[in-house]
Amino acid sequence: MGDKSGSNQMWGGRFAGGPSAIMREINASIPFDKALWRQDIAASKAHVDMLGAQGIVLAEDAALIAGGLDQVAAEYEANGVPENWDLEDIHMTTESRLAELIGPAAGRLHTARSRNDQVATDFRLWVRDAMDQAELGLKQLQVALVSRAGEHSGSIMPGFTHLQTAQPVTLGHHLMAYYEMIGRDRSRFADARVRMNRSPLGAAALAGTGFPIDRFRTAEALGFDGPTDNSLDSVSDRDFALDYLMAAAQCSLHLSRLAEEFIIWASQPFGFVTLPDSLSTGSSIMPQKKNPDAAELVRGHSGRIVGCLTALMITMKGLPLAYSKDMQDDKPPVFEAASLLALSIAAMTGMVAEAKFRTDRMRAAAELGYATATDLADWLVRQANIPFREAHHITGSAVKLAESRGIALDQLSIEDLKAIDQRIDDRVYAALSVEASVAARCSHGGTAPDEVRKRVAQARVALGLEESA
Ligand code: ARG
Repeated sequence: MGDKSGSNQMWGGRFAGGPSAIMREINASIPFDKALWRQDIAASKAHVDMLGAQGIVLAEDAALIAGGLDQVAAEYEANGVPENWDLEDIHMTTESRLAELIGPAAGRLHTARSRNDQVATDFRLWVRDAMDQAELGLKQLQVALVSRAGEHSGSIMPGFTHLQTAQPVTLGHHLMAYYEMIGRDRSRFADARVRMNRSPLGAAALAGTGFPIDRFRTAEALGFDGPTDNSLDSVSDRDFALDYLMAAAQCSLHLSRLAEEFIIWASQPFGFVTLPDSLSTGSSIMPQKKNPDAAELVRGHSGRIVGCLTALMITMKGLPLAYSKDMQDDKPPVFEAASLLALSIAAMTGMVAEAKFRTDRMRAAAELGYATATDLADWLVRQANIPFREAHHITGSAVKLAESRGIALDQLSIEDLKAIDQRIDDRVYAALSVEASVAARCSHGGTAPDEVRKRVAQARVALGLEESA
């Protein structure tokens, strides 16, 4: 006869001895799933309220259990969740404490449910909050972007392709590009939230239950739009977590690109921005250094967030219906990604809000590199009716000449320009300034200061910063 003293109190009846030390350790999810305690309590309260209302447990037991759950929650709030590996996870930890507090009635809480629908419900609730938080954080980042873009709708900087000076743009336009990206990220979280907002509670272990439960009631109590429609799918679906991670990964790529802009702009050869002291560090050996560590970590964290997505995708790949214990591994990557993402959003929001843009350096850089060469070509097309390809060629000769003399395009004399093509006259100089160049790009979504101001105004309304005109 085996020693039953170490056997699990929940399913110990079938087992002769306790689990080996390795089994205990590999099985325990409490070290991480204790983060679900609020959701676990909320779902249990919704469940027991329904059990009482349906007459599946007596009303007085239901009330006793609900009161006990409140007490457990108060203890967790005050002292944290105790970590006892023998109790495996948050669900058994809570139920066991409930039993200590209220006695045998606690055993009725688990009627008509399983840890499989329980964890699916808890985790959905957690992920739903994470989606809401991401959405909110990203909105703050958009507010910062829009406010700086409004300040700098007319500040001229070089626009790049291949990181080579291409055409002058406005800093406001550049920042608003990230407003658009972050807007798509917000909508990805919002879309995912709509898709995931169904309650798996009541799917029980995998097949549903014979008890006369009301899944619509528990769904409503937990803020879901309704119950899920297939019990097997309900306990094995982790699409909501993957949707979250996909949105987080995509978002982290955007944050990483924004971080990279700041890293480049803060470098001495560029000198486009002075980073806020609050988000930089010094060097222990080089006293002159101010390092963009926060931005670099945002860039680095995106790698980890994408890794979290990959981890869960691989975990889920090839799992047959319904629940498998592999799925316990769904939580660490989601928790990790969520905290990395929240930090990254906060860091970039601070960076955007507090950076000192060195608009004089930006403007000077925009004057270099023949950024208005396209404007000369466009002028030839418009004023002299020259086909664009030919205009491009003529402009190339002008750039070559200016380059050989080490001067800007608009420093070439009209004689020099006429020598290249006699159709050029001195009205051309008006087109060659960086101001004229950006002002000319007034097509919808273009970089012209007026266009940027228009988009900023729309954004301010969309963000609720202003009433619509
Ligand atoms: N701790 C488990 C998890 O996170 C809860 C579900 C356990 N279900 C089971 N059949 N062993 O997945």
